[in-house]
Amino acid sequence: MKTIIEPFKIKSIEPIKFTSAVQRVEILRKAFYNPFLIPAEDVLIDLLTDSGTSAMSAKQWAGIMDGDESYAGSKSFYRFEHTVRTLTGFKHIIPTHQGRAAEKILFSIVGGKTKWIPNNTHFDTTRANVEFTGAEAVDMLNEIGKHPNLVADFKGNMDIAALGKFIEERGAENIPLCMITVTNNSGGGQPVSMENIRHTKKLLQKYGIPLFIDACRFAENAYFIKLREQGYAEKSVREIVKEMFSYADGCTMSAKKDALANIGGFLAMNDDDLAQKSRNLLIVTEGFPTYGGLAGRDLEAIAQGLDEILDEDYLRYRIRSIEYLGEKFSAIGIPIVQPPGGHAVYIDAKNLLPHIPPHEYPGQAVVSEFFRRGGVRCVEIGSVMFGKYDPKTGTLISPSMELVRLAIPRRVYTQSHIDYVIEVAEEVFHNRKNLKGYRIIEEMPTLRHFTAKFECLT
Ligand SMILES: Cc1ncc(COP(=O)(O)O)c(C=O)c1O
Repeated sequence: MKTIIEPFKIKSIEPIKFTSAVQRVEILRKAFYNPFLIPAEDVLIDLLTDSGTSAMSAKQWAGIMDGDESYAGSKSFYRFEHTVRTLTGFKHIIPTHQGRAAEKILFSIVGGKTKWIPNNTHFDTTRANVEFTGAEAVDMLNEIGKHPNLVADFKGNMDIAALGKFIEERGAENIPLCMITVTNNSGGGQPVSMENIRHTKKLLQKYGIPLFIDACRFAENAYFIKLREQGYAEKSVREIVKEMFSYADGCTMSAKKDALANIGGFLAMNDDDLAQKSRNLLIVTEGFPTYGGLAGRDLEAIAQGLDEILDEDYLRYRIRSIEYLGEKFSAIGIPIVQPPGGHAVYIDAKNLLPHIPPHEYPGQAVVSEFFRRGGVRCVEIGSVMFGKYDPKTGTLISPSMELVRLAIPRRVYTQSHIDYVIEVAEEVFHNRKNLKGYRIIEEMPTLRHFTAKFECLT
């Protein structure tokens, strides 16, 4: 059969609320045009994030009931630890309440002033956690990954030549570790090839610098390797995942993505000393090492989710449904990051709205219009999220891309929901020339996109 269907059926449902266009104008105004400030109840199709929004399976819910809530040494922890260790091969498995808590612990130990942390592209929380310690977060994305409309198989790859030059210039002693984010969320959800991970490791090994994987979407990345990289078509996703992790010395993970859980994360590593320091910090900030900020039931849901995510029928459907949305957007004429990534379609707002300059936030204009037209919530990944002010002149320094991400929650929406989003997108496209830019009227110094307030320019 040509049609790739959802490899599950629906057992429990949650109603969604329809609003009128007039109501949506008011909702947007009250939220100061920031999608994070819109009450979820007022959203019809929520594509704000794929994080923590997955629909859990019957077996995960059964695990929730079966969770062992003992403070120390719960059986749920041992199941969780065994699952993660089998999957990744790492010696120390440290549960955290979500991905950024793992980042916070890791960078509190290895970060600090005069330190540099390279990554293909840091996610916003990773960057924030690095910079919070006084260290500097550096992105080293391969050139092709910076061009939204160029099609290539592995646009998330690290620029290994640039990384080598950087290490020589700054000194290996100032680079406590290097990260690779799979898939590369901030750069369009693009995958990283096995070859690139292997070569990055080889380079780092020469200098004694550990490699950590930001593993949030490890299974989607592994499936892309199976589809696109020579020599992997016949390997199982589990084998590919094992090989990916075999090149790393540790990882940070948000279980809210490819563990199909609504909360959770972990930090894993081989280094005994780093693990000891991490557990000490964990006890202060998260909890005892056998629960680390989570309930026993959450650990069960994560362990179960980590098994389910490797189901290749699921991954085939997952990657194809994102591709489907991307193909339809392209057919309408909406410029997107090509090819579509693993968890989201990213609209190239700079190209869609050339009349709105980066300092007037073209991505924010697209986000508002998706909501106004059809109650679809998405998010800007551009100058709002990553823009910085020049300390001397106060002018905005924009990132290279102005993107809008429509992230697809896992196992939540059916094809008719997605077809509705496509209809909304068509209207947004036809009205694009009338869209206006935005001005920020209130913002916080870090992670400003979560709370900033906007005003529409007239
Ligand atoms: C690549 C990447 N790293 C880290 C994180 C942080 O994870 P969490 O939201 O669980 O703190 C995210 C979340 O979206 C992410 O996409």
